[in-house]
Amino acid sequence: MTAAKAPSASDSSHPEIVVSGARPTGKLHLGHLNGALKNWLQLQQEYKCFFFVADWHALTTEYADPAGLRGNAESMVLDWLAVGVDPDRAILFSQSDIPAHAELFVMFSMIVPVPWLERVPTYKEQQEQLEGRDLSTYGFLGYPLLQAADILVYKATRVPVGEDQLPHVELTREVARRFNRMYGEVFPEPKGLVMAAARVPGTDGRKMSKSYGNAVDLTDDPRTVYDKLSKMVTDVRRQRRTDPGDPKDCPAFRLHEIYCTAEERAELEVGCKTAAIGCLDCKKVMIRRVVEELEPIRLRRLQLDERPGLAAEVLNEGGRRARKHADRTLVEAKRAMGL
Ligand code: TRP
Ligand code: SF4
Repeated sequence: MTAAKAPSASDSSHPEIVVSGARPTGKLHLGHLNGALKNWLQLQQEYKCFFFVADWHALTTEYADPAGLRGNAESMVLDWLAVGVDPDRAILFSQSDIPAHAELFVMFSMIVPVPWLERVPTYKEQQEQLEGRDLSTYGFLGYPLLQAADILVYKATRVPVGEDQLPHVELTREVARRFNRMYGEVFPEPKGLVMAAARVPGTDGRKMSKSYGNAVDLTDDPRTVYDKLSKMVTDVRRQRRTDPGDPKDCPAFRLHEIYCTAEERAELEVGCKTAAIGCLDCKKVMIRRVVEELEPIRLRRLQLDERPGLAAEVLNEGGRRARKHADRTLVEAKRAMGL
C-alpha cells in the first residue's frame, strides 16, 4: 500500500497520469475531505490529473430514481472547487460527457470473461447490502469494466482510491494486460494508490456516510458542527464523567488523530484514562480544529453559489479537454483491434 504522496518524481518522458472518479453523492462531508480530496489537492500540484463525476456508475445502482443525478453532480463539483480542487490544474468533467469511456467499455467487453466480473468482491457484497433494488442487471455486473475503461482511456498510471476499490484497479490491470497481449502494447498498467485516512467514522461510529445520517457536511456552519460532534459516540465505558476510558476505543478520537497534534493527544489520553477530563472537554479541542478547517470552505462555497452556471461551465470546459485525450487513446485502441 502506498500513501498518496508517495509517487517519486517521475522522469519527464513518462509523466504520471492520475485518474479518479467519484459518484455524485451531492453534499460532500468530512469523510470525503480526509479520504479523497486532500489527496487530490496534493496530486494536482504534481501530476496531470483527471477527476470526474462518475454519473454512469451512479446509474448502475440508482437507475430507478435518477432525478437528483445532475443536481448532485453540480453540487459535488462546487464542493470540489470550494475545497481547492483547481480546474486550471486538474481536468474536471462528467463521465457521461465523454463517449470514449463507453466505446472502450464495449471493446473491453469482447475480451473479458464474465467470471472475471462475477468474482470481483464488490459485486456480491453490494447486491447483498443494497437489498430492495434489482442489481441483477448487465450494467451492474459490468461496473468494474466500465471503471477499467475510465482509467485506461487516459492511460492512467496512478489511481487514487479507497481500499475497497483495489480489486477494481487489479481488474483494470488484468484487462490492460490481456488487451496488450492480444493486440499490441496500448495501455500502461496503472497502480492503485490507497489514500491515507480513507475511513473517517461518522457521529455514530460507523463509516461516515450520507446514507447513515452520521456525516458532518463540508457546508455545516460552526454551530451545526459543534452540535453533531459533541454528540458523537465515544468509548462506551465512559458512561459517567467519573468512568475512565481509552482513546483507542473511542470513535471520536479518530478525528483527534486527524486534527490534533501528538502533544495534545498525549495529554488528552492521560485525561481520558484517569477520568480527569470529560468527553466534551476532550472533544472541544478537536472540534475547534474541524471548524477552523471547514469555515473557509463553507464561506467559499457560499460565494460559488452566487455564480449560477459555474458548475456546468467547469464541467463543459473540462469535458472538452478530457475528450481530446480520450479520443486519442480510442483511435489507437480501435486501430489495434482491427476496427
Ligand atoms: N467506483 C468508484 C467508487 O465507487 C468510482 C470510480 C468510477 C472510479 N470510475 C473510477 C474511481 C475510476 C477511480 C478511477 O468510488
Ligand atoms: Fe473519547 Fe476523549 Fe471521551 Fe476519552 S475523553 S472517550 S478519548 S472523547
